[in-house]
Amino acid sequence: MSDTALASAAIREAGQLARAFFERRHELLIDQKGPQDYVSAADREVESCLISRLSQLFPDDGFVGEESGQRHGAREWIIDPIDGTTNFLRGIPVFAITLALVEADVTQLGLIYDPMRDVLYEATAGGGARCNGEPIQPLWRSALSQSLIGLCHSSRLHPEQLTARISSVLRSGAILRQPGSAALMLCDLAMGRIDGLYDADLKAWDSVAGLLIAREAGAIASNFLAKESWRTAPQPTLAVAPGLYPELSALWPEIRDIPCLP
Ligand code: IPD
Ligand code: CA
Ligand code: CA
Repeated sequence: MSDTALASAAIREAGQLARAFFERRHELLIDQKGPQDYVSAADREVESCLISRLSQLFPDDGFVGEESGQRHGAREWIIDPIDGTTNFLRGIPVFAITLALVEADVTQLGLIYDPMRDVLYEATAGGGARCNGEPIQPLWRSALSQSLIGLCHSSRLHPEQLTARISSVLRSGAILRQPGSAALMLCDLAMGRIDGLYDADLKAWDSVAGLLIAREAGAIASNFLAKESWRTAPQPTLAVAPGLYPELSALWPEIRDIPCLP
């Protein structure tokens, strides 16, 4: 079986566990990692289940897991056990598991599983992007006045930066979306449901899988792995329809300096 098939089975299994935890989320003890940043046994157990499965399948590979840290290897699996933890804990069924395979600082494989809708988004480097096995063919808008723009915002973002970005994009005639899971928003971009998204400081487990899916669907997507510190340091995450890039970068000049891969 291919790496993609094995990883797809592993992420689906992790997703079923996340879904079972979601059904009994009221029983979970919640710890706070920072301002508006929570973790429960669901995050920890889903990650540990995924790491055990991948360790059986690929014993020489390393990991970068949101909840359990790093183990280096020539190939590394980047894991977010629940992207959208706040949604999950509040009962909003919008969250996902992310899994990416990185080798020599290149993302080879990206998977994002939405367990509540049983939808698996997946891409391989140079091999295209798929949604439940079907090739993704987005139909993006190429004018901001007809676009939907995704905005992530965590408590790390300065309120004035966010409000400036929101008012400029609203003045252009675009409409905003903020679902609470950066990974699912990258899938929405790949699918052509939104036309651009930007967050100045997401973590590798939020972004790496989804950026490959967006890029393989045809978007301009930031190269999260450009800096050596990508495993730990927050990096900008940008994905945008190619036809919209000139207008969006004129509106938000800060995105012009973000290294992108076409
Ligand atoms: C968060 C989500 C959210 C984004 C935050 C992330 P988590 O991930 O992706 O949409 O705005 O910056 O930290 O904590 O739910 O895994
Ligand atoms: Ca996350
Ligand atoms: Ca998470």
